[in-house]
Amino acid sequence: MAHTIAVLSQKGGTGKTTAVRTLADAFRRSGVRTLVVDLDPQGNLSDYFDVPPDVEPTIADVLSGRSRAAEAIHADIIPANLSLAEAELMLGGKMGRELTLRRALAEAHENGEVVPEDYEVILIDCPPSLGLLTVNALVAADRALITAEAQYFALQGVEQAMEVVELARESLNPELALLGVLLNLADMRTVHSREALASLKERFGQQVFDTVVRSSIAYAESAERARSILDHRPDLGVDYLELADEVLARLADFGEARQRLARLA
Ligand SMILES: Nc1ncnc2c1ncn2[C@@H]1O[C@H](COP(=O)(O)OP(=O)(O)OP(=O)(O)O)[C@@H](O)[C@H]1O
Ligand SMILES: [Mg+2]
Repeated sequence: MAHTIAVLSQKGGTGKTTAVRTLADAFRRSGVRTLVVDLDPQGNLSDYFDVPPDVEPTIADVLSGRSRAAEAIHADIIPANLSLAEAELMLGGKMGRELTLRRALAEAHENGEVVPEDYEVILIDCPPSLGLLTVNALVAADRALITAEAQYFALQGVEQAMEVVELARESLNPELALLGVLLNLADMRTVHSREALASLKERFGQQVFDTVVRSSIAYAESAERARSILDHRPDLGVDYLELADEVLARLADFGEARQRLARLA
């Protein structure tokens, strides 16, 4: 069974997409079969992985029932584009609308092709809102990873995301657990980054990852060049190798992959 991780935040620009992209890179390099799902109509994750913009089918076709998930996997990504905005609107009027992604990802083999369940880890990149798409991700997932930008109000944003995780667990997905809270885009030389970390630790304790991802302009350059930060700036990429290790440790049963990961650092 794949471990399915929804990466979410209520706020925009907390580094969700970069986290999904770079964790996927780190996992794959340590031999963990990883599928990524772009669940944001902005399609940033698909851009980061250099998916051609006109590729079909996409997650929109899967959610609207026009396509099987297996058919929408292109080089280990189920991509998205603006058509997902329309699919989300259509989804709103349907019975079982919150369960659509879960059902799609759980599909059985038909023609010997790869289905989502064949992967060891599935990472879902959510849009910056706590609406129906994010709820679909939380219902399809067994773990939630909340990202926060190291700024004032970080705590408030995480608390809102946490409430939605709780709601999804109580009403729709009892298996859902919090994987952790990531402090992202941090500059620990500044007072607000240090305060953001302190307030998150005070409120959420061990649930906050030890790894803090440092802020650097190099991330924008690496996104622009569709080149992983692990290659573009290995000195910064080490943050994500450490985070990947913490994530695998929290998921358990990835001992060998963690040894391979340690050799990448
Ligand atoms: N550690 C970092 N330091 C500095 N900039 C970063 C870092 N991580 C990501 N960025 C940059 O911040 C911007 C937002 O990152 P990203 O797209 O990953 O966030 P997001 O939470 O997915 O945004 P959205 O909410 O719009 O989906 C991008 O320009 C990205 O290159
Ligand atoms: Mg994003």
